Order: sequence, then structure tokens, then C-alpha cells
Amino acid sequence: MTQQWKCTDYQTYADFVPALGVDVLGLLNPQTGEKILDLGCGDGALTSKILALGADVVGLDAADELATAAEKRGLSILRLDAHGFSMPCTFDAVFSNAAMHWMHSPEKVIANVAASLKPGGRFVAEQGGFGNVAALSTAILAALDAMNLPLPEKFPWDFPTPEQQTQRLENAGLRVDVMQLFYRPTPLPKGIKGWLQTFISPFVDGASEKDRENVIHHAVRWLTPILKDASGQWMADYVRLRYRATKP
Ligand SMILES: C[S@@+](CC[C@H](N)C(=O)[O-])C[C@H]1O[C@@H](n2cnc3c(N)ncnc32)[C@H](O)[C@@H]1O
Repeated sequence: MTQQWKCTDYQTYADFVPALGVDVLGLLNPQTGEKILDLGCGDGALTSKILALGADVVGLDAADELATAAEKRGLSILRLDAHGFSMPCTFDAVFSNAAMHWMHSPEKVIANVAASLKPGGRFVAEQGGFGNVAALSTAILAALDAMNLPLPEKFPWDFPTPEQQTQRLENAGLRVDVMQLFYRPTPLPKGIKGWLQTFISPFVDGASEKDRENVIHHAVRWLTPILKDASGQWMADYVRLRYRATKP
């Protein structure tokens, strides 16, 4: 399963992602001079906010185009896969917004996060939680099926329950201080097509451009009565999991 990130799509159709990440930034509460890692920082919109609050922040991301956009903001970026990074006891905090659910082996990533925290350091994150984008995902899978295209062997996103994520964090030696699952219907002012275009890549790995367009076309048709209201406003069926865990 490959992820494909196009910076112009992300900044045009998914600018609400870092905008809504400001709340979890409040939970991070970065302090002047703290060393902070922004894991899966994307184009660095939130990383630059952490920098502006006086922290010594570094971003980490595996997507070249987004990492380049983050560097253009003047940020320090590590182009690494979160499954493989190793910086023992370096950070006061690791922060992550809307990135953990893209990682295929979250236990491994959480172990790396725990190892990279100083004693007393915190991991503060928000990601998709159990039930996130259920209608959107079902429409994509149904469209693939209707077109006789292969379904992904494994569902590409990880949307854990609070209990599952708590267990994973505890298994890595972290103490969970906050764990909240909440429904957050999310307006998509630029519509559903742009959302699908931006995020569909792991479902259509290897498909032709035409097939990809057709999958999006079918999915939009099926989603219209569910996620589009009478005024024409699209809402994504988001469920978020927000947490803070501390290294003893
Ligand atoms: C939806 S974007 C969120 C970006 C940013 N945190 C924000 O709030 O705008 C998800 C990001 O996670 C990154 N990502 C996904 N899997 C990754 C991995 N295994 N290692 C590093 N980065 C990863 C992607 O490249 C992408 O930039």
C-alpha cells in the first residue's frame, strides 16, 4: 500500500486538517526552549505554530513533497519513516496530528516514540479513532468492488478504540493521562471530490488514472445522500482519538 501526497491537493482540500489540529496543540502546551518532535508533520503548518510558541521543534515526515514544503517554511525536517527512527531520550515531547492512523505498525512507531522521549516527556497526539470515515471508506470499497478492482488486503488506516490505543501506549511503558474519543463531523467547504482525490491513494495503488477517477465518481454518487446536506454542504464523518501519555 503506497501513500501518495501532492502538496497542492493537501493545501487546497485538506487545509482543515492542521486548522483543526490547533486544539491538540493546546493539549501539547509547548514551552519555550522545549525540544519537540512533530511526527508526520506534513507541510509543517502546525510545526511552524510550535516554533512560533518558542519551542525547539523538528518535523519528521516520509513524504518528499510535503517535507520540501515544510522546509520552505524554514523548518528543520527529518525525512524518515516513523517506523524506523531512533533518537534515544532526545525530546521533551513528541506531537502528532492526523498522522498516526497512516502508519501500518503503530506498536513499532509508539515504541520509537517512547524511546525518543526524555524521562518525564510526553506524547501528545490526535488521529482517526474507531469509526472514523466509516461512510467514506465503505463507499470507496464498494466502488472498487463494483468496478471489479482489487480491494486492499488490509484496511489501510488504523482507527483504534481508546482501549486498544491505551494498551499499546502502556505496552511501550507510557502512562496514559488523557484518552478521548469524540465524533467530529467536519465541514468540507471544497466538497468531497477533493477529499477523495487527496486521501484515496492507498486504496487505488496500481490502478490507472481512469480507474481512479471512476472510483471517485462512484463514491461521490453513493455518498451524496449521506454526507451532503440540503444546502449543498459536505460533511466528512470524522471520529477523532486524542491522547496524552507520559514517560515515567
Ligand atoms: C494527513 S497528513 C497530516 C500532516 C500534518 N501533521 C497536519 O496536521 O497537517 C499525514 C502525514 O503523515 C505522514 N506519514 C504517514 N505515514 C508515515 C510514516 N510511516 N512515517 C513518516 N510520516 C508518515 C504523511 O507523509 C503525511 O504528511
